[in-house]
Amino acid sequence: MLCLRGIHYSVNGKRIIEAVNMRFRRGMSYSILGPNGAGKSTLAYILMGVLKPSRGRVFLGETDITDLSITERAKLGISLLWQEPARYEGITVWEYLTLGGKLRVNKEELQRVLELVGLPYELYAHRFVDKSLSGGERKRIELASLLLLKPRYAVLDEPDSGLDITAGELIENVLNYFKETGTTVILITHHEEIAAKTDFAYFLCAGRLIKKGFSREVVEYYKRTCGRCFLAGMMRDEH
Ligand SMILES: Nc1ncnc2c1ncn2[C@@H]1O[C@H](COP(=O)(O)OP(=O)(O)OP(=O)(O)O)[C@@H](O)[C@H]1O
Ligand SMILES: [Mg+2]
Repeated sequence: MLCLRGIHYSVNGKRIIEAVNMRFRRGMSYSILGPNGAGKSTLAYILMGVLKPSRGRVFLGETDITDLSITERAKLGISLLWQEPARYEGITVWEYLTLGGKLRVNKEELQRVLELVGLPYELYAHRFVDKSLSGGERKRIELASLLLLKPRYAVLDEPDSGLDITAGELIENVLNYFKETGTTVILITHHEEIAAKTDFAYFLCAGRLIKKGFSREVVEYYKRTCGRCFLAGMMRDEH
């Protein structure tokens, strides 16, 4: 089980995360739902070791991993899909997905995973991971890479952003695949229809945990309250 215990995060005196407790059990899928600026990516970075909390601890089972680096956490099986995918000039999709041949995957598996993210193997395996790929294609390739890694915990920061109308189906495929591999999914989103696809959900707003529970219940609450909230409305108008 991966746990956030009493997490606070402030920067330049600004409180970004306040007293957040979350638990992620093995093999379950969770969403962290909240409007722009709620603190979702900040929490993802705290889970991954990109940021250190100002207060509070991160636990993996009984082990306190708060002081471990990104690399050390990756070795423990915690992986992150970044909100903004990076480009890797000069290497092909095949090389990228197999970590330059280090990850032992056969062609069938590579084909299955690429098709699962909506990219036909023949058209994409030998393309370069550079500017010639669209933002949506890069996001799909990053997702494919996480699927092949089969981490114990996959933190997905807005996997649906920048994707077209097929995003819902793609997320369902990803969740089903990770159910098979026993991976715990932590899916960050501000779309309630995406959050509804996970087993459990946390609703975060202005850095505070507002509600937790079965996804359907949390989504219902989010739809009822968040749409009417003055603060969230203001935040949405800015975008
Ligand atoms: N270094 C920083 N200095 C000042 N404010 C920051 C800093 N980093 C983050 N913030 C603020 O913290 C809040 C939470 O940011 P975060 O990126 O975690 O939000 P988010 O929920 O991921 O939003 P989005 O849905 O837009 O991705 C935002 O208001 C952001 O402006
Ligand atoms: Mg974010």
